Amino acid sequence: MTYFFQHQNGYVFITEYSERMITLKKSNYINGEWIQAGNYAELLSPYTRESIAFIPQASFEEVELAIEAAEKTRMEMENLSALERANILYAISDAFANRRLEAAKLISLESAKPLKYALGEIDRTIETYRFAGDEAKRLVGELIPMDAARTGKDRFAYTIEQPLGVIGAITPFNFPQNLVAHKVGPAIAAGNTIVLKPASQTPLSALLLAEIIDKTNLPKGAFNVVIGSGGTVGEQLIKDERIKMITFTGSPSVGIGIREKAGLKRVALELGSNSGVIIDRNVNLEPIVGKCVTGAFSNQGQVCISLQRIYVMEDLFEPFITAFIEKTKVLKVGDPLDEATDISAMIHEKEQKRALQWLEEAVAAGANVEYGGHVENGILQPTILSGVNARLKVSCEEVFAPIVSVNKIKSVEEGIESINDSMFGLQAGIFTRDIQTAFHASKKLEVGGVMINDIPTYRVDQMPYGGVKQSGTGKEGLKYAIREMTETKLVVWNQEGGI
Ligand code: SIN
Repeated sequence: MTYFFQHQNGYVFITEYSERMITLKKSNYINGEWIQAGNYAELLSPYTRESIAFIPQASFEEVELAIEAAEKTRMEMENLSALERANILYAISDAFANRRLEAAKLISLESAKPLKYALGEIDRTIETYRFAGDEAKRLVGELIPMDAARTGKDRFAYTIEQPLGVIGAITPFNFPQNLVAHKVGPAIAAGNTIVLKPASQTPLSALLLAEIIDKTNLPKGAFNVVIGSGGTVGEQLIKDERIKMITFTGSPSVGIGIREKAGLKRVALELGSNSGVIIDRNVNLEPIVGKCVTGAFSNQGQVCISLQRIYVMEDLFEPFITAFIEKTKVLKVGDPLDEATDISAMIHEKEQKRALQWLEEAVAAGANVEYGGHVENGILQPTILSGVNARLKVSCEEVFAPIVSVNKIKSVEEGIESINDSMFGLQAGIFTRDIQTAFHASKKLEVGGVMINDIPTYRVDQMPYGGVKQSGTGKEGLKYAIREMTETKLVVWNQEGGI
Protein backbone atom coordinates (compact mmCIF):
# COMPACT_ATOMS: atom_id res chain seq x y z
CA MET A 1 0.00 0.00 0.00
CA THR A 2 1.33 3.49 -0.79
CA TYR A 3 0.71 6.59 1.27
CA PHE A 4 1.38 10.19 0.32
CA PHE A 5 2.37 12.81 2.84
CA GLN A 6 1.61 16.20 1.34
CA HIS A 7 3.48 18.94 3.12
CA GLN A 8 2.40 22.54 3.06
CA ASN A 9 5.67 23.65 1.52
CA GLY A 10 5.08 21.42 -1.48
CA TYR A 11 7.22 18.40 -0.56
CA VAL A 12 5.60 15.09 -1.32
CA PHE A 13 6.87 12.02 0.47
CA ILE A 14 5.90 8.56 -0.64
CA THR A 15 5.74 5.87 1.95
CA GLU A 16 5.67 2.17 1.27
CA TYR A 17 4.47 0.42 4.39
CA SER A 18 5.07 -2.92 2.71
CA GLU A 19 8.76 -1.98 2.62
CA ARG A 20 8.49 -0.56 6.13
CA MET A 21 8.70 2.96 4.86
CA ILE A 22 11.44 4.58 2.87
CA THR A 23 13.72 6.80 4.90
CA LEU A 24 12.31 10.27 4.74
CA LYS A 25 13.17 13.60 6.23
CA LYS A 26 10.48 15.10 8.42
CA SER A 27 10.05 18.68 9.63
CA ASN A 28 8.98 20.46 12.77
CA TYR A 29 5.53 22.08 12.56
CA ILE A 30 5.79 25.68 13.71
CA ASN A 31 3.32 28.54 13.23
CA GLY A 32 1.37 26.52 10.66
CA GLU A 33 4.44 25.74 8.54
CA TRP A 34 6.71 22.77 8.02
CA ILE A 35 10.14 23.98 9.07
CA GLN A 36 13.20 21.93 8.18
CA ALA A 37 15.59 21.61 11.13
CA GLY A 38 19.32 22.27 11.28
CA ASN A 39 19.96 18.82 12.73
CA TYR A 40 18.45 15.40 12.11
CA ALA A 41 18.58 12.00 13.83
CA GLU A 42 17.78 8.60 12.43
CA LEU A 43 14.59 6.97 13.72
CA LEU A 44 14.85 3.18 13.93
CA SER A 45 12.02 0.64 13.99
CA PRO A 46 11.99 -1.00 17.44
CA TYR A 47 11.07 -4.29 15.73
CA THR A 48 13.36 -4.54 12.68
CA ARG A 49 15.87 -1.96 13.95
CA GLU A 50 15.93 -0.56 10.40
CA SER A 51 15.90 3.13 9.65
CA ILE A 52 12.35 4.42 9.14
CA ALA A 53 12.82 8.19 9.01
CA PHE A 54 15.10 11.12 9.70
CA ILE A 55 13.62 13.26 12.42
CA PRO A 56 14.42 16.84 13.33
CA GLN A 57 16.38 17.66 16.46
CA ALA A 58 14.99 21.09 17.20
CA SER A 59 17.51 23.76 18.16
CA PHE A 60 16.99 26.45 20.81
CA GLU A 61 15.99 28.92 18.06
CA GLU A 62 13.45 26.54 16.54
CA VAL A 63 11.80 25.89 19.92
CA GLU A 64 11.83 29.66 20.50
CA LEU A 65 9.93 30.15 17.20
CA ALA A 66 7.32 27.61 18.31
CA ILE A 67 6.82 29.27 21.71
CA GLU A 68 6.63 32.70 20.06
CA ALA A 69 4.00 31.44 17.61
CA ALA A 70 1.92 29.93 20.43
CA GLU A 71 2.24 33.13 22.49
CA LYS A 72 1.21 35.46 19.67
CA THR A 73 -1.85 33.29 18.83
CA ARG A 74 -3.19 33.32 22.41
CA MET A 75 -5.74 36.08 21.93
CA GLU A 76 -7.00 34.73 18.61
CA MET A 77 -7.51 31.37 20.28
CA GLU A 78 -9.17 32.89 23.33
CA ASN A 79 -11.59 34.74 21.07
CA LEU A 80 -12.87 31.62 19.32
CA SER A 81 -16.39 30.70 20.41
CA ALA A 82 -17.11 27.43 22.18
CA LEU A 83 -18.81 26.19 19.02
CA GLU A 84 -15.80 27.08 16.86
CA ARG A 85 -13.46 25.23 19.23
CA ALA A 86 -15.81 22.25 19.35
CA ASN A 87 -16.06 22.10 15.56
CA ILE A 88 -12.27 22.11 15.21
CA LEU A 89 -12.08 19.17 17.64
CA TYR A 90 -14.84 17.30 15.79
CA ALA A 91 -12.94 17.88 12.51
CA ILE A 92 -9.80 16.32 14.05
CA SER A 93 -11.86 13.37 15.25
CA ASP A 94 -13.42 12.90 11.79
CA ALA A 95 -10.00 13.05 10.11
CA PHE A 96 -8.74 10.24 12.36
CA ALA A 97 -11.83 8.21 11.50
CA ASN A 98 -11.03 8.69 7.79
CA ARG A 99 -7.34 7.85 8.22
CA ARG A 100 -7.80 5.13 10.85
CA LEU A 101 -5.66 2.39 9.31
CA GLU A 102 -2.88 4.74 8.21
CA ALA A 103 -2.68 6.32 11.68
CA ALA A 104 -2.64 2.90 13.35
CA LYS A 105 0.10 1.60 11.05
CA LEU A 106 2.24 4.60 11.84
CA ILE A 107 1.94 3.78 15.55
CA SER A 108 2.88 0.13 14.91
CA LEU A 109 5.79 1.17 12.75
CA GLU A 110 7.42 3.61 15.13
CA SER A 111 6.55 2.00 18.49
CA ALA A 112 6.07 -1.72 17.66
CA LYS A 113 2.60 -1.63 19.19
CA PRO A 114 0.76 -4.58 17.61
CA LEU A 115 -1.64 -3.34 14.95
CA LYS A 116 -4.76 -4.64 16.71
CA TYR A 117 -3.90 -2.47 19.73
CA ALA A 118 -2.86 0.45 17.52
CA LEU A 119 -6.28 0.32 15.82
CA GLY A 120 -7.85 0.30 19.28
CA GLU A 121 -5.79 3.36 20.16
CA ILE A 122 -7.01 5.24 17.08
CA ASP A 123 -10.60 4.33 17.92
CA ARG A 124 -10.03 5.84 21.33
CA THR A 125 -8.36 8.90 19.79
CA ILE A 126 -11.45 9.48 17.64
CA GLU A 127 -13.57 9.40 20.82
CA THR A 128 -11.15 11.54 22.84
CA TYR A 129 -11.33 14.44 20.37
CA ARG A 130 -15.14 14.07 20.25
CA PHE A 131 -15.38 14.20 24.03
CA ALA A 132 -13.07 17.24 24.00
CA GLY A 133 -15.41 18.94 21.49
CA ASP A 134 -18.41 18.16 23.69
CA GLU A 135 -16.64 19.53 26.77
CA ALA A 136 -15.70 22.73 24.91
CA LYS A 137 -19.45 23.43 24.72
CA ARG A 138 -19.96 22.73 28.43
CA LEU A 139 -17.20 24.91 29.81
CA VAL A 140 -19.04 27.00 32.39
CA GLY A 141 -18.35 28.72 35.68
CA GLU A 142 -20.78 28.84 38.58
CA LEU A 143 -23.00 31.24 40.46
CA ILE A 144 -21.73 32.09 43.93
CA PRO A 145 -24.38 32.50 46.70
CA MET A 146 -22.85 35.75 47.98
CA ASP A 147 -25.70 36.57 50.36
CA ALA A 148 -24.93 33.49 52.43
CA ALA A 149 -22.20 35.61 54.01
CA ARG A 150 -22.88 38.42 56.50
CA THR A 151 -21.49 41.10 54.20
CA GLY A 152 -22.60 39.52 50.94
CA LYS A 153 -26.10 41.00 50.72
CA ASP A 154 -26.93 42.69 47.41
CA ARG A 155 -24.00 41.11 45.64
CA PHE A 156 -24.34 38.94 42.57
CA ALA A 157 -21.30 36.87 41.61
CA TYR A 158 -20.21 34.24 39.14
CA THR A 159 -17.01 32.65 37.92
CA ILE A 160 -15.72 32.30 34.38
CA GLU A 161 -13.16 29.74 33.23
CA GLN A 162 -10.44 31.42 31.19
CA PRO A 163 -7.68 29.71 29.20
CA LEU A 164 -4.23 29.72 30.79
CA GLY A 165 -2.41 30.67 27.57
CA VAL A 166 0.40 28.52 26.18
CA ILE A 167 0.48 24.87 27.26
CA GLY A 168 3.69 22.82 26.94
CA ALA A 169 2.83 19.17 26.35
CA ILE A 170 5.46 16.46 26.76
CA THR A 171 4.12 13.08 25.73
CA PRO A 172 5.22 9.43 25.95
CA PHE A 173 5.83 6.72 23.35
CA ASN A 174 3.29 4.18 24.60
CA PHE A 175 0.13 5.87 23.26
CA PRO A 176 1.60 8.26 20.67
CA GLN A 177 -1.80 9.41 19.42
CA ASN A 178 -4.26 9.02 22.30
CA LEU A 179 -2.07 10.40 25.09
CA VAL A 180 -1.27 13.35 22.81
CA ALA A 181 -5.05 13.73 22.32
CA HIS A 182 -5.45 13.85 26.11
CA LYS A 183 -3.31 17.00 26.13
CA VAL A 184 -4.11 18.66 22.80
CA GLY A 185 -7.90 18.00 23.04
CA PRO A 186 -8.52 19.69 26.40
CA ALA A 187 -6.03 22.48 25.62
CA ILE A 188 -8.00 23.43 22.48
CA ALA A 189 -11.35 22.90 24.22
CA ALA A 190 -10.31 25.44 26.87
CA GLY A 191 -8.99 27.95 24.29
CA ASN A 192 -5.26 27.50 24.93
CA THR A 193 -2.39 27.27 22.45
CA ILE A 194 0.08 24.39 22.48
CA VAL A 195 3.72 23.51 21.95
CA LEU A 196 3.99 19.72 21.77
CA LYS A 197 7.19 17.75 22.29
CA PRO A 198 6.39 14.13 21.44
CA ALA A 199 8.52 11.22 22.64
CA SER A 200 11.71 10.89 20.59
CA GLN A 201 10.73 7.39 19.44
CA THR A 202 7.22 8.34 18.27
CA PRO A 203 7.34 11.70 16.49
CA LEU A 204 5.67 10.46 13.30
CA SER A 205 2.25 10.16 14.93
CA ALA A 206 2.56 13.72 16.27
CA LEU A 207 3.43 14.94 12.76
CA LEU A 208 0.40 13.14 11.36
CA LEU A 209 -1.68 15.03 13.92
CA ALA A 210 -0.07 18.28 12.74
CA GLU A 211 -0.98 17.38 9.16
CA ILE A 212 -4.58 16.79 10.27
CA ILE A 213 -4.80 19.96 12.37
CA ASP A 214 -3.31 21.98 9.52
CA LYS A 215 -6.45 21.26 7.48
CA THR A 216 -8.84 22.46 10.22
CA ASN A 217 -9.83 26.00 11.18
CA LEU A 218 -7.46 26.09 14.15
CA PRO A 219 -5.60 29.42 13.95
CA LYS A 220 -2.07 28.96 12.60
CA GLY A 221 0.40 29.09 15.47
CA ALA A 222 -2.05 27.64 18.00
CA PHE A 223 -0.54 24.16 17.65
CA ASN A 224 3.17 23.52 17.18
CA VAL A 225 5.27 20.34 17.20
CA VAL A 226 8.97 20.46 18.06
CA ILE A 227 10.91 17.23 18.05
CA GLY A 228 14.02 16.63 20.09
CA SER A 229 15.26 15.30 23.39
CA GLY A 230 13.77 15.92 26.81
CA GLY A 231 17.10 17.34 27.98
CA THR A 232 17.03 20.15 25.41
CA VAL A 233 13.54 20.79 23.98
CA GLY A 234 11.75 19.61 27.13
CA GLU A 235 13.97 21.71 29.42
CA GLN A 236 13.38 24.80 27.31
CA LEU A 237 9.61 24.39 27.50
CA ILE A 238 9.72 23.81 31.26
CA LYS A 239 11.83 26.91 31.90
CA ASP A 240 10.19 29.39 29.51
CA GLU A 241 7.99 31.85 31.38
CA ARG A 242 5.55 32.30 28.50
CA ILE A 243 4.47 28.70 28.96
CA LYS A 244 1.84 28.66 31.69
CA MET A 245 1.48 24.94 32.20
CA ILE A 246 3.40 21.75 31.56
CA THR A 247 1.35 18.62 31.07
CA PHE A 248 3.54 15.54 31.15
CA THR A 249 3.08 11.80 30.92
CA GLY A 250 6.12 9.64 31.55
CA SER A 251 8.44 8.31 34.21
CA PRO A 252 8.30 9.43 37.87
CA SER A 253 11.96 10.54 37.88
CA VAL A 254 11.42 12.88 34.90
CA GLY A 255 8.09 14.07 36.35
CA ILE A 256 9.63 14.97 39.69
CA GLY A 257 12.44 16.81 37.84
CA ILE A 258 9.83 18.84 35.91
CA ARG A 259 8.06 19.86 39.10
CA GLU A 260 11.32 21.00 40.63
CA LYS A 261 12.25 23.15 37.63
CA ALA A 262 8.83 24.53 36.70
CA GLY A 263 8.66 27.31 39.30
CA LEU A 264 5.14 28.73 39.55
CA LYS A 265 3.93 27.09 36.34
CA ARG A 266 1.06 24.70 36.64
CA VAL A 267 2.21 21.12 36.28
CA ALA A 268 0.09 18.04 35.60
CA LEU A 269 1.97 14.78 35.95
CA GLU A 270 0.67 11.42 34.83
CA LEU A 271 3.38 9.04 35.96
CA GLY A 272 3.84 5.33 36.33
CA SER A 273 2.64 2.56 38.59
CA ASN A 274 2.98 -1.11 39.49
CA SER A 275 -0.75 -1.79 39.36
CA GLY A 276 -2.28 -4.74 41.13
CA VAL A 277 -5.50 -6.74 41.15
CA ILE A 278 -7.09 -8.91 43.88
CA ILE A 279 -8.95 -12.09 42.99
CA ASP A 280 -11.35 -13.03 45.80
CA ARG A 281 -12.64 -16.57 46.40
CA ASN A 282 -15.84 -17.91 44.77
CA VAL A 283 -15.42 -16.01 41.51
CA ASN A 284 -15.72 -17.48 38.02
CA LEU A 285 -12.10 -17.54 36.80
CA GLU A 286 -12.89 -18.00 33.10
CA PRO A 287 -13.52 -14.31 32.16
CA ILE A 288 -11.02 -13.08 34.73
CA VAL A 289 -8.07 -15.00 33.26
CA GLY A 290 -8.59 -13.47 29.79
CA LYS A 291 -8.78 -9.97 31.24
CA CYS A 292 -5.57 -10.56 33.22
CA VAL A 293 -3.71 -11.70 30.08
CA THR A 294 -4.78 -8.52 28.27
CA GLY A 295 -3.94 -6.35 31.28
CA ALA A 296 -0.47 -7.82 31.74
CA PHE A 297 0.73 -8.10 28.16
CA SER A 298 -0.99 -5.56 25.91
CA ASN A 299 1.55 -3.23 24.31
CA GLN A 300 4.28 -5.45 25.83
CA GLY A 301 3.27 -4.26 29.32
CA GLN A 302 4.32 -0.72 28.42
CA VAL A 303 1.18 0.90 29.83
CA CYS A 304 1.09 3.00 33.01
CA ILE A 305 -1.82 0.88 34.30
CA SER A 306 -0.44 -2.42 33.07
CA LEU A 307 -1.26 -5.34 35.34
CA GLN A 308 2.00 -6.07 37.15
CA ARG A 309 0.89 -7.77 40.39
CA ILE A 310 -1.90 -10.33 40.74
CA TYR A 311 -3.02 -11.35 44.26
CA VAL A 312 -5.12 -14.54 44.23
CA MET A 313 -6.85 -16.16 47.22
CA GLU A 314 -4.85 -19.30 47.98
CA ASP A 315 -7.58 -21.87 47.15
CA LEU A 316 -7.84 -20.38 43.61
CA PHE A 317 -4.10 -19.97 43.05
CA GLU A 318 -3.47 -23.32 41.25
CA PRO A 319 -6.48 -23.19 38.89
CA PHE A 320 -5.79 -19.52 38.18
CA ILE A 321 -2.11 -19.87 37.32
CA THR A 322 -2.72 -22.98 35.19
CA ALA A 323 -5.40 -21.21 33.13
CA PHE A 324 -3.33 -18.01 33.01
CA ILE A 325 -0.33 -19.87 31.55
CA GLU A 326 -2.57 -21.70 29.05
CA LYS A 327 -4.04 -18.42 27.76
CA THR A 328 -0.63 -16.73 27.65
CA LYS A 329 0.86 -19.61 25.61
CA VAL A 330 -1.48 -18.92 22.70
CA LEU A 331 -0.44 -15.28 22.34
CA LYS A 332 1.15 -14.65 18.95
CA VAL A 333 4.54 -13.00 19.27
CA GLY A 334 6.04 -11.24 16.24
CA ASP A 335 5.65 -8.50 13.65
CA PRO A 336 3.66 -5.51 14.98
CA LEU A 337 2.21 -4.84 11.52
CA ASP A 338 0.65 -8.31 11.38
CA GLU A 339 -2.95 -8.03 12.58
CA ALA A 340 -2.74 -11.40 14.32
CA THR A 341 0.19 -10.35 16.54
CA ASP A 342 -0.42 -9.93 20.27
CA ILE A 343 3.10 -9.14 21.47
CA SER A 344 6.05 -7.54 19.73
CA ALA A 345 9.31 -5.79 20.56
CA MET A 346 9.80 -3.46 23.47
CA ILE A 347 10.51 0.15 22.62
CA HIS A 348 14.32 0.00 22.94
CA GLU A 349 16.92 -2.70 23.35
CA LYS A 350 18.18 -0.94 26.47
CA GLU A 351 14.72 -1.18 28.03
CA GLN A 352 14.62 -4.88 27.24
CA LYS A 353 18.06 -5.31 28.83
CA ARG A 354 16.87 -3.49 31.93
CA ALA A 355 13.80 -5.76 32.19
CA LEU A 356 16.02 -8.85 31.76
CA GLN A 357 18.31 -7.66 34.56
CA TRP A 358 15.32 -7.23 36.86
CA LEU A 359 14.20 -10.75 35.91
CA GLU A 360 17.64 -12.17 36.69
CA GLU A 361 17.59 -10.42 40.05
CA ALA A 362 14.17 -11.95 40.81
CA VAL A 363 15.24 -15.46 39.82
CA ALA A 364 18.44 -15.17 41.86
CA ALA A 365 16.28 -14.21 44.85
CA GLY A 366 14.13 -17.35 44.45
CA ALA A 367 11.24 -16.26 42.18
CA ASN A 368 9.79 -19.01 39.94
CA VAL A 369 9.51 -18.42 36.20
CA GLU A 370 6.13 -20.03 35.43
CA TYR A 371 6.26 -19.04 31.76
CA GLY A 372 8.54 -17.10 29.40
CA GLY A 373 11.47 -15.30 30.97
CA HIS A 374 13.68 -15.23 27.88
CA VAL A 375 14.18 -13.47 24.56
CA GLU A 376 13.27 -15.15 21.27
CA ASN A 377 13.90 -13.51 17.88
CA GLY A 378 14.78 -10.29 19.69
CA ILE A 379 11.48 -10.16 21.62
CA LEU A 380 11.08 -10.60 25.38
CA GLN A 381 8.45 -13.32 25.70
CA PRO A 382 5.39 -12.79 27.92
CA THR A 383 6.63 -13.74 31.37
CA ILE A 384 4.76 -15.01 34.42
CA LEU A 385 6.48 -15.17 37.81
CA SER A 386 5.40 -16.54 41.16
CA GLY A 387 6.97 -16.50 44.62
CA VAL A 388 8.17 -12.93 44.10
CA ASN A 389 9.37 -11.00 47.13
CA ALA A 390 7.61 -7.63 47.31
CA ARG A 391 10.92 -5.76 47.57
CA LEU A 392 12.22 -7.04 44.22
CA LYS A 393 12.29 -4.53 41.36
CA VAL A 394 9.88 -6.60 39.23
CA SER A 395 7.33 -6.04 41.97
CA CYS A 396 8.00 -2.70 43.66
CA GLU A 397 9.25 -0.65 40.68
CA GLU A 398 7.30 0.00 37.49
CA VAL A 399 8.39 -2.89 35.27
CA PHE A 400 7.00 -1.50 31.96
CA ALA A 401 7.67 -4.82 30.21
CA PRO A 402 5.65 -8.02 29.60
CA ILE A 403 6.34 -9.37 33.10
CA VAL A 404 3.68 -10.14 35.70
CA SER A 405 3.88 -11.65 39.22
CA VAL A 406 1.16 -13.90 40.60
CA ASN A 407 0.99 -14.05 44.40
CA LYS A 408 -1.02 -16.14 46.89
CA ILE A 409 -3.03 -14.30 49.57
CA LYS A 410 -4.91 -15.62 52.59
CA SER A 411 -7.42 -12.74 52.73
CA VAL A 412 -8.63 -9.78 50.71
CA GLU A 413 -7.17 -7.59 53.46
CA GLU A 414 -3.73 -9.03 52.71
CA GLY A 415 -4.27 -8.19 49.03
CA ILE A 416 -5.24 -4.61 49.87
CA GLU A 417 -2.19 -4.21 52.10
CA SER A 418 0.07 -5.63 49.39
CA ILE A 419 -1.28 -3.29 46.73
CA ASN A 420 -0.93 -0.32 49.09
CA ASP A 421 2.64 -1.34 49.93
CA SER A 422 3.89 0.66 46.95
CA MET A 423 5.32 4.07 46.20
CA PHE A 424 2.75 4.26 43.37
CA GLY A 425 -1.05 4.49 43.28
CA LEU A 426 -2.62 4.91 39.84
CA GLN A 427 -5.40 2.30 39.52
CA ALA A 428 -6.19 -1.05 41.14
CA GLY A 429 -8.77 -3.78 40.57
CA ILE A 430 -10.66 -6.38 42.59
CA PHE A 431 -12.73 -9.33 41.39
CA THR A 432 -15.28 -10.29 44.03
CA ARG A 433 -18.91 -11.35 44.35
CA ASP A 434 -19.21 -9.82 47.80
CA ILE A 435 -20.62 -6.31 47.75
CA GLN A 436 -19.26 -5.46 51.21
CA THR A 437 -15.78 -6.57 50.16
CA ALA A 438 -16.05 -4.40 47.04
CA PHE A 439 -17.09 -1.34 49.07
CA HIS A 440 -14.36 -1.98 51.61
CA ALA A 441 -11.65 -2.34 48.93
CA SER A 442 -12.77 0.76 47.05
CA LYS A 443 -12.39 2.74 50.28
CA LYS A 444 -9.08 1.28 51.41
CA LEU A 445 -7.06 1.00 48.18
CA GLU A 446 -4.67 3.96 47.96
CA VAL A 447 -5.02 4.72 44.26
CA GLY A 448 -6.62 7.23 41.90
CA GLY A 449 -9.16 4.72 40.54
CA VAL A 450 -10.59 1.38 41.73
CA MET A 451 -12.05 -1.05 39.19
CA ILE A 452 -14.58 -3.44 40.73
CA ASN A 453 -14.67 -6.72 38.79
CA ASP A 454 -12.10 -5.49 36.32
CA ILE A 455 -8.37 -5.13 35.82
CA PRO A 456 -6.57 -1.88 36.74
CA THR A 457 -5.77 -1.47 33.05
CA TYR A 458 -9.39 -0.52 32.30
CA ARG A 459 -9.82 3.00 30.99
CA VAL A 460 -12.29 4.95 28.91
CA ASP A 461 -11.24 8.41 27.92
CA GLN A 462 -13.79 10.68 29.58
CA MET A 463 -13.32 9.23 33.05
CA PRO A 464 -11.07 11.00 35.58
CA TYR A 465 -7.62 9.45 35.35
CA GLY A 466 -4.62 10.17 37.52
CA GLY A 467 -2.75 8.82 40.47
CA VAL A 468 -1.69 9.43 44.04
CA LYS A 469 1.77 9.07 45.63
CA GLN A 470 4.49 8.90 42.93
CA SER A 471 1.92 8.16 40.23
CA GLY A 472 1.42 11.88 39.74
CA THR A 473 -0.66 14.95 40.36
CA GLY A 474 -3.69 16.29 38.52
CA LYS A 475 -6.33 14.42 36.55
CA GLU A 476 -6.78 13.64 32.88
CA GLY A 477 -10.09 12.76 31.25
CA LEU A 478 -11.40 15.66 29.19
CA LYS A 479 -13.56 17.50 31.70
CA TYR A 480 -10.91 17.10 34.42
CA ALA A 481 -7.96 18.05 32.23
CA ILE A 482 -9.83 21.17 31.08
CA ARG A 483 -10.15 22.23 34.72
CA GLU A 484 -6.39 21.97 35.05
CA MET A 485 -5.95 24.06 31.90
CA THR A 486 -8.16 27.00 32.89
CA GLU A 487 -8.02 29.81 35.44
CA THR A 488 -11.15 30.50 37.46
CA LYS A 489 -11.93 34.23 37.46
CA LEU A 490 -14.49 35.70 39.85
CA VAL A 491 -16.81 38.57 38.90
CA VAL A 492 -18.78 40.29 41.70
CA TRP A 493 -21.58 42.80 40.99
CA ASN A 494 -22.67 45.26 43.65
CA GLN A 495 -26.43 45.70 43.32
CA GLU A 496 -26.79 48.40 45.98
CA GLY A 497 -28.46 51.53 44.69
CA GLY A 498 -26.95 54.99 44.81
CA ILE A 499 -23.74 54.54 42.82
C1 SIN B 1 -1.00 5.33 30.17
O1 SIN B 1 -0.23 4.42 29.88
O2 SIN B 1 -0.69 6.27 30.89
C2 SIN B 1 -2.39 5.40 29.63
C3 SIN B 1 -3.11 4.14 29.57
C4 SIN B 1 -4.36 4.24 28.75
O3 SIN B 1 -4.74 5.34 28.33
O4 SIN B 1 -5.00 3.22 28.52
